[in-house]
Amino acid sequence: MNKLIAPSILAADFGNLQRDVEMVNQSEADWFHIDIMDGVFVPNISFGMPVLKAISQHAKKTIDVHLMIVDPDRYIQTFADLGATILTVHYEACTHLHRTVQAIKAAGMKAGVALNPHTPIAVLEDIIKDIDLVCMMSVNPGFGGQSFIENTYKKVSQLKHLIEFTESDCLIEIDGGVTDQNANKLVEAGADVLVAGSFVFKNEDPIKTIANLKSIIT
Ligand code: DX5
Ligand code: ZN
Repeated sequence: MNKLIAPSILAADFGNLQRDVEMVNQSEADWFHIDIMDGVFVPNISFGMPVLKAISQHAKKTIDVHLMIVDPDRYIQTFADLGATILTVHYEACTHLHRTVQAIKAAGMKAGVALNPHTPIAVLEDIIKDIDLVCMMSVNPGFGGQSFIENTYKKVSQLKHLIEFTESDCLIEIDGGVTDQNANKLVEAGADVLVAGSFVFKNEDPIKTIANLKSIIT
């Protein structure tokens, strides 16, 4: 499968949000990665439904929503209505993960599960065949611009092995601290989708940065 780039809108200039969304539309990026934080599951609040609605109105690519919130079941239908193609919930935030995954799929979206850096891959053994994506956190969730945690490579290899062993169709997404320095090694370990926030938006030529990342991984 083609390897994908998903710029994280968390690092965009919110004063020029439409401009930055159009930039992603025009670039070689594949998805929009949208981080929703509630200030409870993670120690930060990002943005909520009205902002996602504004993004959706201009975005012309797949909308990949990463929920860093407690009790995400409350908002599954809302995110479907707002145009999410993929809805990812945190393993650590879901007591009844199987039920949550089924509800996401019943609402017409693809279901993702995110794992914090300390959470072992083994917890996915009995859900891996039911999900479409694993979002592997390569930083502690809550903030953009953090340094990549090197232990991620080992976890990607373990996850790739689990996916192959179970014949799951699940994609591996890496989220946090992705740059041109680790992109190739991540893809070699088995990653399918690379989220990149600061590395894209803090560069003076984001379109070129995305094209460069894309050329590294394909
Ligand atoms: C972190 C978010 C990430 C973040 C990535 O909690 O889930 O998606 O925006 O940003 P960078 O690429 O700057 O680490
Ligand atoms: Zn994210």
